[in-house]
Formats: sequence, structure tokens, C-alpha cells
Amino acid sequence: MSLSSLPRAVRFEDGNLFILDQTKLPSKIEIIKLSSPSEVWEAIRSLRVRGAPAIGIAGAYGLLTGMKPLTGLSAGEFKAKAAETAAYLDSARPTAVNLGWALGRMMRAAAACCDMPASEIYSAMEKEAGDIYREDAACCRSIGRAGAGLIKDGCGVLTHCNAGALAVSELGTALAPVYTAMEEGRAFRVYADETRPLLQGARLTAWELSAAGADVTLICDGMAAHVMSKGLIDMVIVGCDRVAANGDAANKIGTLGLAVLAGHFGVPFYVACPGSTYDPATPDGESIIIEERPESEVTSFGGVKTAPEGVKVMNPAFDVTPSGLITAFITEKGVIKPPFAENMKVLEEKP
Ligand code: MRU
Repeated sequence: MSLSSLPRAVRFEDGNLFILDQTKLPSKIEIIKLSSPSEVWEAIRSLRVRGAPAIGIAGAYGLLTGMKPLTGLSAGEFKAKAAETAAYLDSARPTAVNLGWALGRMMRAAAACCDMPASEIYSAMEKEAGDIYREDAACCRSIGRAGAGLIKDGCGVLTHCNAGALAVSELGTALAPVYTAMEEGRAFRVYADETRPLLQGARLTAWELSAAGADVTLICDGMAAHVMSKGLIDMVIVGCDRVAANGDAANKIGTLGLAVLAGHFGVPFYVACPGSTYDPATPDGESIIIEERPESEVTSFGGVKTAPEGVKVMNPAFDVTPSGLITAFITEKGVIKPPFAENMKVLEEKP
């Protein structure tokens, strides 16, 4: 398998952001061009681009799409407009910290430009966005190396949602150890939860793993307990949208259920994430804002209505796994074990 053949979610060229529209996968591979913050906001909101690191990168490039035409402004006006646009982009989705983290980096890069014209502030921001992308790719490769050794020949790995190449700059977080272990020549099984209601596991994870030649089996979310009870799963690896200071971790709805199951069956439960997903300013999982999405995502399937008119619906897009159910975090700084409140601090150190 060649890692260079994995799909690429986000690319920036000539002031435009190009994304692989993930709402169309797997039926259609469509690259769309986004030329303004409002187009990028819509793409993030509607999950055309999704996954915590990828929306951070898209947010950073989205800010550039808005600022490129404004380099004729005074430096003060340019920075004020950049702050307004960054706040707007940050409002697209609330749970993944990577979006605000990346936009914060962009604004600090702008603020560091003293006595410079707007065109030079733009150049500094453009460099920062490129750095965010390249650093994310380097983190993913390190996560792959850190986690690959956990995956032994013949084992079964269960994952949820999509934390693969489609969710990041390149390679993935939860799937980075999978791809790296494949590259290292090990043979093992991957089980992908379909991930209701938007089917990121079926549409995206099963798609990118199949294309990479992985031995992947798709299961409905409700089958995970049965599959674990049959001894088919040796470890769970999921991605993450925000890790609180105490190690509680928010990820796609359904993750908490898997963590409880893994605890019951004695299966190690790993969360893979880069430092950009660690949020020491959020003390615990209770403080993480959980995105609520439209009822229609639950009351229909593939555009066909599947629930009675007027039924009450809940649609939280994420849940929080308490740190006590997490075996370890797989990060660019290596595999981090408990106590997380102490040991995760390594992610705050510069590489
Ligand atoms: O709603 P989504 O598809 O953006 O949710 C994505 C996830 O929950 C991922 O597991 C998480 O962002 C990690 S991506 C490396």
C-alpha cells in the first residue's frame, strides 16, 4: 500500500480552498472550490469538510479567502476585519477545538506583524496556514508511528466515525496507526462502525480503507457489542474532537457506548489525536459544548423519511468519554497513559 494514494480532504491554491465534498462520498468524487468565508462556513457546517483537524485547516484557509481581496486596507482595518471573519468561521461548529485553535493561531500571526502593510500581514497569515497544514501532517505521521506497534498480526481493530485521511491534512489520526501497520507489513482486520446518523463510518472510513487495500468489515453501530462478545476485537481506536484537561474526550456520538463496551469486555480503548485537539482551558467533559444537529438527520435515511411526523427527536453529534474509560491517547508525542491530567501536559510543549 502507498500512503501517497490516500485521498486528500483539503488543498489551498491561488487564494482558493479546494475540498473533496464528503457529503457526496462514496458515490461521487467531487472537488469543490470555495472562494469566500461564507462558502467555507457552509462547507464546514454541512460536513462537506469534516473531522477536527481538517476543519481547523479549512478554517485557517477560509480566513485567507476572505482576507486576500482586502490587502488594500490599512493594517488596523485589515486586522479588525480578520478578527471579525475568524469569529464568524469559528461559529460554524462548536465541539472540535481545532477550529478555534487554528483561527487563534492565524490571528496571533497577524497580531505579531507590527508596522507592516496589510499585504505583508496577509503573507504572514498565509505562511501560518501552510504551517498548520504541514504540522498536522507531521503529527499524523508521528501518531501512525506511535500507534502502529499496538496493532499485532491477526488482530481486530474497531473504529468509529472517520478519523482517517479524510478528517485531517494527510493520513489520519485513528487510522494513522492502521495505515502505518499495513505499511509495515502486518495483516489484521479493521471493523468500521457505520456511525449513524450521517454514516461517516460507512461512507468514508469503509471507503478510504477499502481503497487502501485494508481488510475492512462494515458493521452497524448496534452490532459492536455482539462482535466484541465473539472475541473479534482486540482494540478500539477512535479519533477525538476535544480532550479536556482531565482527559475526558469528546468524539462522534456513539463513542461513549464503545468505551463502555470495551471496558466490559476488557478490550483496550485508545483515543488518537494531535496536540491541536488537546484543550487544557476546558477543565472536563462537562464543559465541552456538544453540537446539536437538525432532527431531519435522524428522521430520514438516504433522503427517505423513516420516522413518524412530529415524533420527538434528539440529535447530539458528539458524546464525551470519561478519562477513566480511556486506556491511552496515541499522540505525536507518543502513547500517553494515565494519569492524563498530568501526562497530557506534554502536548503543550513545542515539538
Ligand atoms: O461530525 P464529524 O464527521 O466532523 O465528526 C468527526 C469525528 O468525530 C472524528 O472522530 C474526529 O473529528 C476526529 S478526526 C481526526
